Amino acid sequence: EDLLNKKEILKGKTIVVTAGGTEEAIDPVRFIGNRSSGKMGIAIAQAAANMGAKVKLVYGNVTIPLPQDKNIELFPAPSSEDMLMQVKQEFNRSDILIMAAAVADWRMKKVADHKLKKQADQATLELTLVKTKDILREVAKQKNPDQVVVGFAAETNDLLKNAEKKLREKGADMIVANDVSQNVFGSDKDKVTILRQNGTIEEWPEMSKKEIASKLLIYVNSFIQK
Ligand code: CTP
Ligand code: CA
Repeated sequence: EDLLNKKEILKGKTIVVTAGGTEEAIDPVRFIGNRSSGKMGIAIAQAAANMGAKVKLVYGNVTIPLPQDKNIELFPAPSSEDMLMQVKQEFNRSDILIMAAAVADWRMKKVADHKLKKQADQATLELTLVKTKDILREVAKQKNPDQVVVGFAAETNDLLKNAEKKLREKGADMIVANDVSQNVFGSDKDKVTILRQNGTIEEWPEMSKKEIASKLLIYVNSFIQK
């Protein structure tokens, strides 16, 4: 009922959503990845399309099928560098960015151009990693005042303290904090807390990721109207 009334609330809006985990190559056959399934980001992309938005879905490694929808344009972005490039390019002409992707924090200093071989007498392997660029922070810094940037915060401990720090340091309008200490990855459900720059903190009850997606978009939209 509630959702049906708000059906086309995002008509005329363009929204960039990132989903899934990035893959950072080690060599031609291996990568550093993470446990993100892409379910949250894909749910947000689909909900936004259902609400009439034009959606640009920038995705890394996902474990569920990508949405097939005339209002969702798909942009593969396997690595954090690919994702940064696509997000910057698409957010230029968009109203909202939602960074649901699990972007790698580190990548190889140098990707090997051949498959790394193990030696018989070798017991350990050391990889040198360098920090990736923070997409959310970089985009939030450059956005214009009527664009809205939403980040996530995945925490296993000190949820509010860590999420508040991310809100402050990244300069996003909103952070969706979730406790990933148990059963979130690949799950259909999640429990989130929304933090805003004005200090508002809303703890939402556990819901399906689809419900969170719709609620979040309605929330972001009401925020734009103000
Ligand atoms: N993020 C990003 N670019 C990165 C790393 C993270 O845009 N290189 C975004 C994520 O998409 C998410 C938010 O920043 O929206 C928070 O990601 P998270 O991993 O929870 O926080 P980090 O700032 O990376 O800090 P840490 O992993 O140390 O907790
Ligand atoms: Ca991180």
